Amino acid sequence: MSTSTLSAPAVRSPVRAEHVTKRFRQGEAVVEAIKDVSLTIDDGEFVAVMGASGSGKSTLLHAMAGLTRLDEGRMVVADTDLSGLSDAKLTRFRRRKIGLVFQSFNLIPTLTAEENITLPLLTDGRGDRIKEHLDPLLDRLGLTARRRHRPDALSGGEQQRVAIARSLITDPALVLADEPTGSLDSVSGQNICRLLRELCEEQRRTIVVVTHEPAVAVWAGRVVVMKDGHVLTEFRTSDFGDAQSLALHYQNVVKATPTAKEQA
Ligand SMILES: Nc1ncnc2c1ncn2[C@@H]1O[C@H](COP(=O)(O)OP(=O)(O)OP(=O)(O)O)[C@@H](O)[C@H]1O
Ligand SMILES: [Mg+2]
Repeated sequence: MSTSTLSAPAVRSPVRAEHVTKRFRQGEAVVEAIKDVSLTIDDGEFVAVMGASGSGKSTLLHAMAGLTRLDEGRMVVADTDLSGLSDAKLTRFRRRKIGLVFQSFNLIPTLTAEENITLPLLTDGRGDRIKEHLDPLLDRLGLTARRRHRPDALSGGEQQRVAIARSLITDPALVLADEPTGSLDSVSGQNICRLLRELCEEQRRTIVVVTHEPAVAVWAGRVVVMKDGHVLTEFRTSDFGDAQSLALHYQNVVKATPTAKEQA
């Protein structure tokens, strides 16, 4: 197996968010989706971002992926300040350095599993990497027997494994997953969490998972809790024995701080 498929490229700091603010206009109103968020994620860390619906989790993830322009602050990813990049350079940066995984898998239905997985290399003109990297990746993710199947012939868990393989084929510095288990039954969801954790440990992948499920967050090393667009608190999962005690702590910290609406 090739070593480059098995370990992420080293970067000093995969994510450094500095006082990041992102606003959206909704008619007359302005929504501050994230406000003054500062956060550092270290090489090889597995971080879960938790928070209620609307707390800004996806917006933060999109900011890390360079999918959204910031109103204030800096987002430095893989030692690159994203705000300094033109749209074309940002697209290229994202293709090369970021692996994205979504709740709804986002696979192309007319392509086979392996065609979906290799698409990011082909669109980036790096088809030469396929020969060396595809087979070890299919093998590691348990997809070899399913490689020629189209998404509709795969289970949800298999489809998400294809999406994870697609996110890894470019050997990204950072893997970002937004509710990756949200469309899966609990057993398949736990298997995806275990896989992400193993990829982090075996390959030193840096992984950020957005979730509202304590059973998912417990697989990470660190949990960042968002509320009303702010980082409310963070804690280490090793401080909790299981998902239930983590859930209790999470509920307590979220309840302990009134929302902006409650304060008004
Ligand atoms: N493109 C957009 N245009 C307008 N408002 C937006 C946009 N994206 C997000 N928002 C608003 O920003 C806030 C944060 O949204 P975000 O999607 O980041 O929350 P979230 O924590 O991911 O929620 P969920 O758990 O429901 O996915 C919300 O009030 C949302 O309505
Ligand atoms: Mg979201």
